[in-house]
Amino acid sequence: MKITYYGHSCFTVETGGKILLFDPYITANPLASHINIKSIKADYILISHGHDDHVADAVELANLTGAMVIANHEIVSWLKKQGIKKTHPMNIGGHWFFDFGKVKCVQAVHSSSLPDGSYGGNPMGFLIESDKGSFYYAGDTALTYDMKLIGDYKNIRFAFLPIGNNYTMGIDNALIAAEFINCETIVGMHYDTSEFIKIDHQEAKQKFTNAGRQLHLLSIGKSTTI
Ligand code: NI
Ligand code: MN
Repeated sequence: MKITYYGHSCFTVETGGKILLFDPYITANPLASHINIKSIKADYILISHGHDDHVADAVELANLTGAMVIANHEIVSWLKKQGIKKTHPMNIGGHWFFDFGKVKCVQAVHSSSLPDGSYGGNPMGFLIESDKGSFYYAGDTALTYDMKLIGDYKNIRFAFLPIGNNYTMGIDNALIAAEFINCETIVGMHYDTSEFIKIDHQEAKQKFTNAGRQLHLLSIGKSTTI
């Protein structure tokens, strides 16, 4: 699957013949100032929770791309108030079959309020299944024993895990999360964007290598295939 990084926790993944965009936070991210959001294509936008660093460009990108937005009920209601019509509300524990594959919403241990202060519902992670295999997008979360359920339920080809610490789990807990979900290939997210979440790249990668796993830290604006 082709993955493109747009900074912080924002990626596109091409799977099942469609482009899925996760947690768009680009124009307000100084590290992503070289990204022109008008160049981004998406068929679906998936939003893990309501915090500004995950929804900041959601309305504009939904309008620019015409993508359908998949998020929890509260975030979908907030988007509808801003004129976004193509939406699909979900919640934790549920799954739905889209034309690219199956989306299952899973637990994330975090908080969620929207930029205007309104209630953002519960934070979620996504488990995506398509004909090319499955991947897990954890959203913002602590390490939680529930991740074992995900590993038992599906064979996960790769996973996006937060590694920046402070607001989410850090590297050491992400290593345990990788073990819980039984996944060798991890793509790091939610690091370096602000002073509280700066990480040492070499040290982080080495820790994963020592554990027999691989940590990808992608350059913003660059693509890779996993
Ligand atoms: Ni958050
Ligand atoms: Mn966040």
